[in-house]
Parts: sequence; structure tokens; C-alpha cells
Amino acid sequence: MGKGKEKMEKERITPVKYEEGKLIILDQTELPAREKWIVLENSHDVWDAVKKLKVRGAPAIGVCAAYGICVSMEKSHTCSYDQFRKEFSDVKDYLISSRPTAVNLAWALERMEKKLLSIGDGLCFGPSWRQEEGYLKEELLKEAHAIRREDEESCRAMGEYGLRLLTEISARKGAGEKGPEDQQPITVLTHCNAGALATAGYGTCLAPVYLAAEKGYGVRVFSDETRPLLQGARLTCWELARAGIDVTLICDDMAYSVLKKEKPHAVVVGCDRMAANGDGANKIGTAALAVMAKELGIPFFMFAPKSTIDLSTPAGEDIRIEERDGDEICSMWYEERMAPEGIKTFNPAFDVTENRYITAVVTEKGVVYPPFDENLKRLFE
Ligand code: MRU
Repeated sequence: MGKGKEKMEKERITPVKYEEGKLIILDQTELPAREKWIVLENSHDVWDAVKKLKVRGAPAIGVCAAYGICVSMEKSHTCSYDQFRKEFSDVKDYLISSRPTAVNLAWALERMEKKLLSIGDGLCFGPSWRQEEGYLKEELLKEAHAIRREDEESCRAMGEYGLRLLTEISARKGAGEKGPEDQQPITVLTHCNAGALATAGYGTCLAPVYLAAEKGYGVRVFSDETRPLLQGARLTCWELARAGIDVTLICDDMAYSVLKKEKPHAVVVGCDRMAANGDGANKIGTAALAVMAKELGIPFFMFAPKSTIDLSTPAGEDIRIEERDGDEICSMWYEERMAPEGIKTFNPAFDVTENRYITAVVTEKGVVYPPFDENLKRLFE
């Protein structure tokens, strides 16, 4: 018996909320020790929350930025449409500067700007600018709600497609022909956190895991700890355990042994930006996992909603990779510094998995197989 949709949905964690005119986020830097919710009041709060990974995961950053620009503009009282538009554009550029790799941030803010221009440019502004300004703010908020809702829906759709793939693989291995009860547990290995905490829904690559639990399939997850910021240990393990899903924490350097011994049905990961040729940037360590999976004959699925696919970036080498402070490697999680003072560091937050290592890309519109350059383009036609 599955946990059922209603129960699972009720228990689902939603890291970004807009309630009674307030943008509220779950501060993910405090997890798993504390569930601390904070209010983001202005663009500086939003910039800081994204930069410091209080809110993180590509789709969640996009949703937070969309609401973020609403709460920032809510406080501004401009004298004209031109001034409103200029302020909006400044806040947009400022928020985009907080993190460079996840395309959902720029995608959401550009969509918000398009909405503003599509309404504002067509309006004839008279003496009642204050009223018209209020109207624009309301329309912008509706667009932010739409971005959140669409992300939630796309997570569910990716979950359905992903679960179908996993049950097919498991059935090919000789179990599950009679449905959930007859199935060996669906087993996946994942990296970082591409679950509910990273989105407005069930997550991208963890969505099939939640759906499996909802529908009564046995399901098991191996979660890489994900050095240096430990999104796997702190976040994936927290949210899956909270939902009653069987999760086992491993260090990143144990992945090969687990893949070899446990032979999971697939490696499933999220994506921060997928280039037009299907190369995908995701949390540092993802690319090595993909190479290992290919070597061991294990399918490697990258989950990317359309908002993460950036056809204007031709290939992985064109994706800007965020580099973060060396303290994250040397001292951040330790009571005492664990590397010599003054040591040189290199701390890229993401790497690019080349398309040849990706078995398929799971999107909300379906599963995309190679040749990715042709088939990804088709999604947008
Ligand atoms: O640095 P983070 O924690 O924002 O990195 C997150 C990831 O790499 C996720 O895998 C990615 O954003 C996909 S989230 C659905």
C-alpha cells in the first residue's frame, strides 16, 4: 500500500512561501539542526539568501527571485512608468548577479520583466499613476504565483516520467510484472539535493522517489554527502527521512563501491543549466558519477525542467561555473580549521556532465534521448 497522494502532498516541505504579502523561506543553511523560517523583505535580503544558499536548488532560486522582485517593487513608490521600469530592471540585474550557473534565476526574472513590459508598454498612463502602479504590482505577483505553480506541476510530471523509466528498468531485471507489490525496491543513487527543498514541488530527480512511495513501490536511495556544502547529507537525507523513505548516506568517494556492489537501477541527478547540446551543469561531483555509471552500465538520468534548458548556450564549455570561497573547504563545517592557514584552494560549485554520459534527460514534457541537440530543440517548438 502506498502512502497516498493526499498524505504525501500534505507532508511535503515547501521551501519558498508567499503568505499575507510576505516572502518566507526555510533557511537551508540551518538544516538539519533547525527548521528556521525567515522573511525576505527586500532585494538585499533576497540577494543574500541566494548567495549564501539559504535558498538553493535551481528551480527554488527562480521561484524565490520571482517573489523577491515583487516584494522589492512593492516597497518602491515611483513617479512614472519609466521610473518603475528602470527600478525593476536594476533589481533584476542585481538579483541575477547573486549566482551565475543556475539559469532558472535569470529565466524567472526575465519572464517577470517580459510580463511587466507586455502590460505596461500597452497602457496609457494618466494622472492616476499611483493606481496603475498598484495594478502592475498585482499583475507581477500573479506571474510569480504562476511560476511557482508551473514548477510544482512540472515536478509532478517529471516524477511520473521518471518513475515509469525506473519501473521499466526494474521490470526488465525480472521483478515487478504484477505491479508495486511484486517489485524489488527501486534503487537509485543521487548527488546533492534535487528534491522538494530545491523546487516548489516534489523536486526534479527525487520526484519519482516520492511518487514511488506515494503509489506503494518499495524505494531505496543512496545519497552522496556532496562535499563541500553537504547538500546530500544535510538536505536530501533530511527530507527523505522526514517522508519515511529509505535513505542511506554515503561519502562522495564511496559512490563507485556502492554502484558496483548495490547495482542501483539508475543514478538520478538534477541540473542547474543544460546547454543546447545536452551537456548539463550540476553540483560538483556529478560528472565523475556519470563517467562511473557509464563504465558500470548503469543508466544516468539528468532531470531538467524546460526552465533549466538554455538553448542560447551552445555547449557545456560556455556555461559559467560559480567559484566559491575557499573557507567552505577548509573551515566552514569544522570546529577547528582542517587545512593549513593560507593554503591555496579551488572551489568550483558545479561541473559539466558531457552529453555522451547522459542516458536520457527527464523533462516535464517527456523523456529526451540522444541526439540531444535535435531532441531538446524539439521540446521548445
Ligand atoms: O549549490 P546548490 O545547492 O544550489 O546546487 C544545487 C544543485 O546542484 C541541484 O542539483 C540543482 O540545482 C538541481 S535542483 C532541482
